[in-house]
Amino acid sequence: MSLTTKLIDWLDERLGIRSDIERALRKMVPKQAANPVYCLGGVAFLAFLVEVVTGIALARYYLPDAAFAYESVRVITYEVPLGSLVRSLHYWAGNVMIAAVLLHMLRVYFMGAYRKPRELNWLVGVALLLLTFTFGFSGYALRWDVASYGATSVVVLAPASLPFAGAWVVRVFLGEVAITGETLTRLYFLHVFLIPMAAFTLMIIHFLMVRRQGIASYM
Ligand code: HEM
Repeated sequence: MSLTTKLIDWLDERLGIRSDIERALRKMVPKQAANPVYCLGGVAFLAFLVEVVTGIALARYYLPDAAFAYESVRVITYEVPLGSLVRSLHYWAGNVMIAAVLLHMLRVYFMGAYRKPRELNWLVGVALLLLTFTFGFSGYALRWDVASYGATSVVVLAPASLPFAGAWVVRVFLGEVAITGETLTRLYFLHVFLIPMAAFTLMIIHFLMVRRQGIASYM
């Protein structure tokens, strides 16, 4: 008996999960879903998981303080064992996630899979798209070098020009209507806690809806 079977038996005796696993494995998907374009959502999710694992490793060494952030990135890249590899994986998985989410959205759009009854899941998807962009932006700011400081200034100060609420919005999310150490601390909090938690919760809702509604097959 394989180790997996033994583990499932052990859990089944305590939680009765065998029937749930079997139902999940036997769930039929339409024949059209063998087309690789249907993998794009899964690729985005896989990239997200790589981001979580490598991000936890990076957080062990990164210092979200204006005086030390840049230096800590240098230490990760040149001094920490495998630091450069983990940092590159984090960088590239982030790019893959953005590309996969965009292509996945185009696949859903061009196949008309957003139509009734999947409108709500499309909206959850839009929120996931915005969160994915915010991941990229907040992560880039954490490098705290000249280029990232410049990019952060442009993006962060843009909402300040919103009518009436502009300055308030910027202050709530970033501390001050200027790029300071406090901005870095808040972007760090967004990048490592708030956005991952929100994205993970929305992904679970997204997947539950796909499960409930099945994959659309309009081809
Ligand atoms: C982190 C971002 C996302 C992840 C991990 C994700 C994941 C998935 C997965 C695994 C599926 C199953 C089918 C497939 O992969 O094509 C799916 C379906 C779907 N997704 Fe996403 N998705 C994301 C973002 C989006 C975005 C940005 C949109 C649209 C704005 C969207 C709209 C939909 C819709 C409507 C379906 C149902 C499609 C069908 O039934 O054929 N998703 N998603």
